[in-house]
Amino acid sequence: MKPFKGSVLVVGATGRTGVWVVKRLQHHHIDFHLFVRSGEKALELFGPEVIDKLTIGSIEHPEEIKAAMGHAEAVICAIGGNVTDPKSPPPSAIDRDGVKRLALIAKESGVKYFVLISSLGVTKPDHPLNKYGQVLTMKLEGENEVRRLFSEPGYSYTILRPGGLIDGPPMNHALHFDTGDRISTGVIDRSDVAEAAVISLFTPEAHNLTFELIQAEQAKQSSISQYF
Ligand SMILES: NC(=O)c1ccc[n+]([C@@H]2O[C@H](COP(=O)([O-])OP(=O)(O)OC[C@H]3O[C@@H](n4cnc5c(N)ncnc54)[C@H](OP(=O)(O)O)[C@@H]3O)[C@@H](O)[C@H]2O)c1
Repeated sequence: MKPFKGSVLVVGATGRTGVWVVKRLQHHHIDFHLFVRSGEKALELFGPEVIDKLTIGSIEHPEEIKAAMGHAEAVICAIGGNVTDPKSPPPSAIDRDGVKRLALIAKESGVKYFVLISSLGVTKPDHPLNKYGQVLTMKLEGENEVRRLFSEPGYSYTILRPGGLIDGPPMNHALHFDTGDRISTGVIDRSDVAEAAVISLFTPEAHNLTFELIQAEQAKQSSISQYF
C-alpha cells in the first residue's frame, strides 16, 4: 500500500538533495512529477522512464511553475540558488521570491502539503553565510510565506533546516532534530534530509512544524520517523 496516495511535485529534482528525494519517493512507491531546468540532466540522472514526468522551467517564471502543478497533492522543494556564482540569480530571486512564488502557485493549484528544505541558521542575521546575498535571511522569508499559506485548515507544511550537507547513503546515522534554530553547527547526509522530506508527507508529527536536523553517531536506522 502506498503511504501517500497523491502525486508529489519535486522542485529542484536534479540537485544533489533533489536526486535523493526522487530515490526515496521511489523507495516508498509514491507517485511523482519533476520540475527541472534541464530535461537532459533529468534523463541522465533518472533514465528515460521519467520522460512523461518532466516539466521544464525555472522557479522564476510563474507560467512554467503552473504548467508543472498538474494534479500534484504535495510539493517538495529542494532548490537553492548558486550563491558563489555572480552570474546566477541572487538568493533574493531564488530562495525568497522563487520559493514565495512556488508556494503561492502551489496553493492556488490545489496542493495540500508543502515541504521546504531550508537551512540551519536562517533566523540569525549575523551568520557568516549571510554575506552571500543575505542567503539565510532570504530563505527565512521564503519559509515565512510557506508557513503563512500552508498553516490554514486543510493544508499542511513541513520545513526542514538541515546542517551542512554531505553525501553518504541514507539511514546510516542516528539523527538529532530540534526546533527554534538553537543548533549552531553540524552536518547531515542529503539522503537523510530527503528521507525526512518524503516521510514528513505521511507522518502526522511532522505536520505544520519547522525542524532543524543534523546527524549524530553512525548507526543503521530502519526508520527515521521517530525523530520528528
Ligand atoms: N550546501 C549545504 O551545506 C547546505 C546546508 C544547509 C542547507 N542547504 C540548502 O539545502 C538545499 C539543497 O541543497 P543542495 O546542495 O542539494 O542544492 P544543489 O545541489 O545546489 O541543488 C539546487 C537545485 O536547485 C535548482 N535550481 C536553482 N535555481 C533554480 C531555478 N531558478 N529554477 C528551478 N530550479 C532551480 C538547481 O537546478 P539545476 O539542477 O538545474 O542546477 C538544483 O536542482 C538548498 O536550498 C541549499 O541552500 C545547503
